[in-house]
Amino acid sequence: MTTDKDTTLFGNGDELPSNHSDNPHINDLIEGISRRQVIGGGMAMGMLAFLGVTMPGAGLAGQANGLLKRPGRLPFAPVAVTRADTVTVPEGFQARAFIPWGTPICGSYPAYREDGTNSAQDQAEQTGMHHDGMHYFPIDAQNGKGHNSEHGLLVLNHEYIDAPLLHPNGPTVVDGKRMVPEEVRKEINAHGVSVVEIHRNLNSEWEVVGNSKFGRRITAATPMEIQGPARGHALLSTRYSPEGTATRGTQNNCANGFTPWGTYLTCEENWAGYFASKDSEKPRELSRYGVGSNSRYAWETLEGDEFQRFDATRKAGMASGDYRNEPNHFGWIVEIDPFDPQSVPVKHTALGRFAHEGVIFAPTQPGKPVVCYSGDDSRNEYVYKYVSRDKFRPGHPDNGRLLDEGTLYVARFNADGTGDWLPLDIQNPAFLAACTAKGISFADQGDVLINTRTAADTVGATRMDRPEWGAVHPETGEVYFTLTNNTNRTEADAANPRTNNAYGHIIRWKEENQDHSGTRFGWNIFLLGGPQSDSRGPDGEALTADNIHASPDGLWFDPEGRLWIQTDMSGSQLSSGPFGNNQMLVADPESGEVKRFLVGPIGCEVTGITATPDFRTLFVNIQHPGEGSTPSNLLSTWPDGPGKRPRAATVVITRDGWRKVL
Ligand code: FEO
Ligand code: CA
Ligand code: CA
Repeated sequence: MTTDKDTTLFGNGDELPSNHSDNPHINDLIEGISRRQVIGGGMAMGMLAFLGVTMPGAGLAGQANGLLKRPGRLPFAPVAVTRADTVTVPEGFQARAFIPWGTPICGSYPAYREDGTNSAQDQAEQTGMHHDGMHYFPIDAQNGKGHNSEHGLLVLNHEYIDAPLLHPNGPTVVDGKRMVPEEVRKEINAHGVSVVEIHRNLNSEWEVVGNSKFGRRITAATPMEIQGPARGHALLSTRYSPEGTATRGTQNNCANGFTPWGTYLTCEENWAGYFASKDSEKPRELSRYGVGSNSRYAWETLEGDEFQRFDATRKAGMASGDYRNEPNHFGWIVEIDPFDPQSVPVKHTALGRFAHEGVIFAPTQPGKPVVCYSGDDSRNEYVYKYVSRDKFRPGHPDNGRLLDEGTLYVARFNADGTGDWLPLDIQNPAFLAACTAKGISFADQGDVLINTRTAADTVGATRMDRPEWGAVHPETGEVYFTLTNNTNRTEADAANPRTNNAYGHIIRWKEENQDHSGTRFGWNIFLLGGPQSDSRGPDGEALTADNIHASPDGLWFDPEGRLWIQTDMSGSQLSSGPFGNNQMLVADPESGEVKRFLVGPIGCEVTGITATPDFRTLFVNIQHPGEGSTPSNLLSTWPDGPGKRPRAATVVITRDGWRKVL
């Protein structure tokens, strides 16, 4: 989703900042450390050595290239900045649009209609709008194994909608109220997740498999189960599920994850804007997340339970008589088994409730806990880690339960380049002491998790610059995270060294003793985005024409340890200035080299990336091309061409001669 927009009706925006805690920014913690020391790795690296942690590239700043290992791992000529209405990739590569919004994938396979007249039911059997996080599961990958690079399931998120383009002539709204239930049902069905069975045909082109037994749409109305410590909690009681164990739908699914046991994880990011509460006093589980008195799409203004559930106003004597707690069913990570179209998706409450951008697993070993990381993408929010209580057993049918019992931690980035994972655990004495000191109480662990942000405030976690995607280096285990931007920052600091940080940066850390389940780490900054005049690449030098960018968002390591970076610039950064359209770059952490690999069409965001196991096909998503378009004013016509509505789509990237992508 684009940045820094408002959340007014039909706005596409991220939520407004809602962290009003007095937790220190990291800048409050590091007086006495110069910016140069921090970003160049001086003192931070000293502390990393103390921890027994060696960061790759830690000593690269200012060093000669002669010290670098494995040069030439980016064998392509970088793409220039452009505002062309197309996908541009380097010479020798092909990029082809695939499964754009409205592609039939299941059921009766209803054909896409260019004029917006597809029905709500059609939409429930077609790919949704605004492709985002995505993963390729080889068709032989049940239980996490599999190598098939020519036949698989492509599973992808549909983050939000452009209502003006979804309908023939936009939504029907009178005095702020929705008038047509069919329109809203179509909007609900354009959200969620698609499971698409695909294969390479005889012409070596990827295509959707017809009559697939796997093809499936999960929407903002699909029945789901709630698991983990908050299951059955009083704060989850609704008219639909008085016992607080079930819910309907997932929405604003931004980035994703995938488990070591072969399931897909979709993450609920800016869900708060889908709800409205007219109550003058809102409980912390609404107010701390930014639920307001008006919703983005006004779904709750229609009669009927399917729409009224988006109205969180107290109306009945008890929570089981209304939907005051419906927003508490969102902000979770949802597990989907793509190989079982009858499976009920599961919301795993142990992983916390916030604006989950994505989730990334540390390398998993049999007999060890599973560990995953997730960022809360809002200004001044936090980075989290989850460690399962039980151990991973490959092939065990109940591995999904590993996400239901464990410890959720939040990160504190110390001024000296070390970091601590602080447990949000009502059994933990330090957590209880912090609660007592702050005068904050939680009834039980379910209450802690439903109010994850408040719990993180309580322990003094470090407020960060909008944590987005994470990626774990496949060889070294370092964890990289994008901090996309934070134009609200007024003081520079170590982890966020620029005020009015419009350009964003990438931070990385390494767990002490390489133990991802531990509680200590060392960190430094990998890259500062921006123009040549205000940036720093991994080599310690300013970025160049080959790699200037802003607002890093999507992040992914390929199997050989190259870091792919996708951008989500918006507003003036897109319309003017040096960066052109949103783009995707590749960085080699070993050499410090960064090159621009792809530039997307006008108005789009580049987000979502996955590959076949043989790395001969790379799938990348293009979201909201021509953002702000209406049927009578098309700002982009990608991918269908002149006169056609722009459509989010996956891009299939291959190389001449069907060689590995890189
Ligand atoms: Fe949906 Fe944080 O991007
Ligand atoms: Ca973003
Ligand atoms: Ca994003």
